[in-house]
Amino acid sequence: MNVADSEVVASILKNSGFTTTEEIKDAGLILINTCSIRDNAEQRIWGRLREIGHLKKKNRDLKIGIIGCMAERLKEKLLETEQLVDIVVGPDAYRELPGLVAEAEGGHKVVNVLLSHEETYADISPVRMDKNGVSSFVSIMRGCNNMCAYCVVPYVRGAERSRDHESIIREVNELFSNGYREVTLLGQNVDSYLWKEGGHDTGFPELLERVASVDPLLRVRFSTSHPKDISDELLHTIARHENICRHIHLPAQSGSSRILELMNREYSREWYMDRVNAIKRIIPGCAISTDMIAGFCTETDDDHKESLSLMEWAGYDFAYMFKYSERPGTKAARKYKDDVPEEVKAERLTEMIALQNRLSSRSKKHDVGKIFEVLIEGSSKRSPDNLSGRTSQNKVVVFPGKGHQKGDYVIVRIERCTSATLLGDII
Ligand code: 5AD
Ligand code: SF4
Repeated sequence: MNVADSEVVASILKNSGFTTTEEIKDAGLILINTCSIRDNAEQRIWGRLREIGHLKKKNRDLKIGIIGCMAERLKEKLLETEQLVDIVVGPDAYRELPGLVAEAEGGHKVVNVLLSHEETYADISPVRMDKNGVSSFVSIMRGCNNMCAYCVVPYVRGAERSRDHESIIREVNELFSNGYREVTLLGQNVDSYLWKEGGHDTGFPELLERVASVDPLLRVRFSTSHPKDISDELLHTIARHENICRHIHLPAQSGSSRILELMNREYSREWYMDRVNAIKRIIPGCAISTDMIAGFCTETDDDHKESLSLMEWAGYDFAYMFKYSERPGTKAARKYKDDVPEEVKAERLTEMIALQNRLSSRSKKHDVGKIFEVLIEGSSKRSPDNLSGRTSQNKVVVFPGKGHQKGDYVIVRIERCTSATLLGDII
């Protein structure tokens, strides 16, 4: 999400005559794009600000801006207590940046954190910051209307709004013509994508189908699906198109129905399991990944065990796991006590990570001997003589590949695996 936003910001500034530099000491303007979703992401930004503070001592004209979620949440603190910061711009006000930078250059501190019900930056062609030129993010909606009790997103990124489907298709076509071979459609809850026009409602399955039809050589991924909304119609759409990747990120957050209810996730453990069963039935061979939170308010050892047993049952190929951190202004912060001691949260997280390491490794071992189509992303970082790419299931594969280049598809037989990577040979 943040990479996609940075690309929009880069495009807005470029159109106003700004250029970029690889050398931070040559910069006249430094913008830091921030995330407030978890406390540690915010902590990192305070550290980063201090690091670049010394540049300001050397260059009195240097302007520093904080953009994104933290801008919205911490505008006063950023401008008042952090003398380093000149510009604070929230996620719906990026179009104002060129004007605000000009004001800041006049010596003012400037801020715009207004949230919008309409802004989707649909007409802005993002400046691609990915280095590989093969895979890219395409933002299809902004904000979120779900009110998960732990989550700050609806407050800092505003209400959900979908982007005009024609502008999405145009952007995807452009990427394909420029050599890109994979797009990831991004939204906080892609299943609720909806564009109404001329009496016709375009939902996510139709959008996905249209994107997949741009070219059979274009791989399509998407994130994030919400278990309460992921429909059989969507799963059948994926099954019909080979170029829609066999990987669904379906964050469970917890395996305990009691905790899910407190989290306001609007599904139970049984509902979640039914959705996983539907994925396995309709799209055989589909990888599934999750997000899990350890130590949400009132979580008992038994609730935690239910999270572990759900992970084991689903056999996730991959998981992002977090300790619960209270975010100011959320329902959990207002109504529940953050009562799981820090060391218990840490212990539970460690247990989750250990389990997931076992599951991920089992999932890779299961692939040994199988044959996959791999999209080449470039040479392998660890072994530059080899190429690196991904399977449709989003697993990284490293293999010798003379004569092939990034953007090519090759058929690879998996011979071995390490903890993070599949190793194979082109056949
Ligand atoms: N504490 C811990 N994890 C959180 N996430 C969101 N908010 C919090 C929080 N307050 C996690 C969820 C979400 C992912 C993007 O971040 O797992 O899916
Ligand atoms: Fe946050 Fe829930 Fe929206 Fe995801 S669906 S962004 S967790 S409120």
